[in-house]
Amino acid sequence: MVDKIKIENGCLVVTDNPIITYIEGDGVGQDIWKNAKLVFDAAVEKVFNGRKRVSWEEALAGKKSFDSMGSWLPEDTLTSIADNLVAIKGPLETPVGGGIRSLNVALRQELDLYACVRPVRYFNGIESPLKHPEQTDITIFRENTEDIYAGIEWEAGSDDVQKVIRFLQDEMGVSKIRFPETSSIGIKPISQEGSQRLIRSAIEYALENNLTKVTLVHKGNIQKFTEGGFRKWGYELAKAEYANELESGKLVINDIIADNFLQQILLNPDKFDVVALTNLNGDYASDALAAQVGGIGISPGANINYITGHAIFEATHGTAPDIAGQDKANPCSFLLSGCMMFDYIGWGEVADLIRSAIGKTFSQGCFTADLAKTTPYFTTSEFSKKLIENL
Ligand code: NAI
Repeated sequence: MVDKIKIENGCLVVTDNPIITYIEGDGVGQDIWKNAKLVFDAAVEKVFNGRKRVSWEEALAGKKSFDSMGSWLPEDTLTSIADNLVAIKGPLETPVGGGIRSLNVALRQELDLYACVRPVRYFNGIESPLKHPEQTDITIFRENTEDIYAGIEWEAGSDDVQKVIRFLQDEMGVSKIRFPETSSIGIKPISQEGSQRLIRSAIEYALENNLTKVTLVHKGNIQKFTEGGFRKWGYELAKAEYANELESGKLVINDIIADNFLQQILLNPDKFDVVALTNLNGDYASDALAAQVGGIGISPGANINYITGHAIFEATHGTAPDIAGQDKANPCSFLLSGCMMFDYIGWGEVADLIRSAIGKTFSQGCFTADLAKTTPYFTTSEFSKKLIENL
């Protein structure tokens, strides 16, 4: 029966024929989606032999949407994802100027997708700057709704910033603004609720995947109440809700200062299983970790609200205008995001099949142009065809 995915008592209910929203994306999104869909459908068919199948429902966003409907992000698209819970999307072009906010940010905010999840693992044969890139197998949980991304800022020289500075000096006794006449001011909100829902998701993920260590990454030595709060609330949550798991050793919670973390992922990446970070630290760490295993062309990602069940799985790269329409893009970031999606809906066998086929295809020396050390390289469609053979 074709049906919407639902959430009941905190668990997803997925029928044999679930509807999943897809947004093709702009630029290389169009090269990638048509091939990725073939891989997804072939893997589902291989695992379930016709018993299960995805019903893909297209929703428009980005340039494709603007060209056909005059809107960068139509209301119908939000409704489709809100109703179907699960979506997968290609990269979107955000128009520069004209007051249009980033479409990706808009989607995350509308659906309160508070956890940005990025598993970072190495595939044999991919070039990496590390001697032992295979030691990197870390899942990042980055808080997605707070921190400096709240966008609360006042520009130097404006009346507003002067008002804020006067308030800080006169009412709050702040005397440490070094150059009050020429300072811009930004606000960094970090809450107990926001931190704990993210850290709870990271712990649940670790337990479900038999991973022991959850590391809280923060800058609490300097920002005692915001970053320090994230750390403190993390430990409090673990103690209150996971006492048995902590006692049995099934779960270990520890923490590390963000700058040391960026050192340790290079020196001792095997120290980490799941890491939970505030928004800005998570931003830096995601790209650094992606680079360790071969770059954004193969890094998957998802933005998830584990409470409502809403989730958007997406490639982490952009529309790559320089290679768009040339059948040249690497589809792996998108495909691996699809694997995360299949894991999320409980079809882990499909995810495993695609992941091992990607590993096998790389080990046969088949790479798209971005990863090929020598020419000739595989086009997007040739690579995807090879992948299907390897399923
Ligand atoms: P980009 O990720 O599109 O491109 C950066 C470089 O990486 C380019 O050289 C490109 O050819 C290469 N590249 C990216 N994806 C690749 C793939 N799958 N295979 C092979 N090579 C790949 O970043 P850029 O140029 O900063 O952004 C271009 C557009 O994409 C902008 O409009 C931006 O707003 C948008 N964008 C959208 C994102 C999203 O929807 N999630 C994320 C990042 C950027």
